[in-house]
Amino acid sequence: MGENIAPQNNTLSPFAAQLAARISREGPLTVAAFMDAAAHEYYAAQKVFGRSGDFTTAPEISQLFGEMIAVWLTDMWMRLGRPEHVQLIELGPGRGTLTADIMRTLKAWPDFQNGISLHLVENSPRLRDVQATVLTKFTPTWYDRLDDVPVGFSFILANEFLDALPIHQFEKIGGQWMERRVRFSATKQVFEFTHTLPDIAIESVMPADFVAAPEPAIFEISPASLTVTEQICQRLQRGGGAALIIDYGHDKAGLGDTLQALEKHGYADPLQNPGGRDITAHVDFATCKLAAEKYAHVHGPVTQGAFLQRLGIVERTEVLADSAATPEDARDLQTGLIRLTAPEHMGRLFKVMALTAKDSDIVPAGFADDTGGEESDHG
Ligand SMILES: C[S@@+](CC[C@H](N)C(=O)[O-])C[C@H]1O[C@@H](n2cnc3c(N)ncnc32)[C@H](O)[C@@H]1O
Repeated sequence: MGENIAPQNNTLSPFAAQLAARISREGPLTVAAFMDAAAHEYYAAQKVFGRSGDFTTAPEISQLFGEMIAVWLTDMWMRLGRPEHVQLIELGPGRGTLTADIMRTLKAWPDFQNGISLHLVENSPRLRDVQATVLTKFTPTWYDRLDDVPVGFSFILANEFLDALPIHQFEKIGGQWMERRVRFSATKQVFEFTHTLPDIAIESVMPADFVAAPEPAIFEISPASLTVTEQICQRLQRGGGAALIIDYGHDKAGLGDTLQALEKHGYADPLQNPGGRDITAHVDFATCKLAAEKYAHVHGPVTQGAFLQRLGIVERTEVLADSAATPEDARDLQTGLIRLTAPEHMGRLFKVMALTAKDSDIVPAGFADDTGGEESDHG
């Protein structure tokens, strides 16, 4: 994540022109519909990850991240009775780095590794091709939606997946909650916000104490994230297993505008250049947790820094750094550790939440003391 707002370029890309034409046919789009279209195009078309892309995710920062997740999975596998067949399901695998690092680490536990079948939920054909090259020896199967994956004992991972799912935004204007929508100004050649009366009874989806909030106030909700969270829980209920949801977001419900875009590692206007920048929003862990608790045990959320430290990332970094081939390699490992765990980097803003089946009383590693989730601000 960077600091600079990218300069505005009012020349429309072919996709932006299509979206503008859609708006002129259908009328202003909800923020959710705009985000859905823009994110879909973005992952289908752009070179998104790493130095030359727009952002860097935790597994792309350091192999240590995937190793720690592998340790967590192995511990769960042992405590859940070492099942012979395990579905490892990853939602939104990006370049496949996380699963590749996990499978490399699991060589140390062949009984576990040999029983794993790999299931990737990915809707970008371009990223499927990238994942295929990295993970081909594990013969993964791809799906458009989680519901298409067969039911069975599963470990489910979602790292920086929910933040890409669409949100609706509501803004209080003149004492009235209105839905924010996106229109296209033909004169200025830019996308901009407008407002319409909501299609839903907003009071039914908003915490009661927010309804009378003073202006300015923006309320966000992501039905898509809640649906996926519930699907994960129902799957655990039917087939057993556990899930880890890792993302940037807040662990207390709040008001505020968290819609954002990244382009070339800098913040950019989320409405301009749709499909050309990464458009996301904070994950509302508090509401996801409420949705999940109906069907599963919820552990956390705890901060990513606390979670990784409890799993032994500091000790593992020291071991690897001591045997690193060059001083640069040792320094890279230490830098990776800091970026993943330090509060001023990903350590505090990113949260980890685990889900286990209702009939299991296991407290997963990293969650024994839930106070690891430092207080975080909304927005
Ligand atoms: C930010 S990337 C996360 C990448 C990866 N998990 C990592 O940690 O490097 C989001 C991923 O989710 C995928 N994705 C986004 N929305 C999706 C959807 N609705 N259905 C399936 N995959 C989706 C993207 O194509 C991409 O692979």
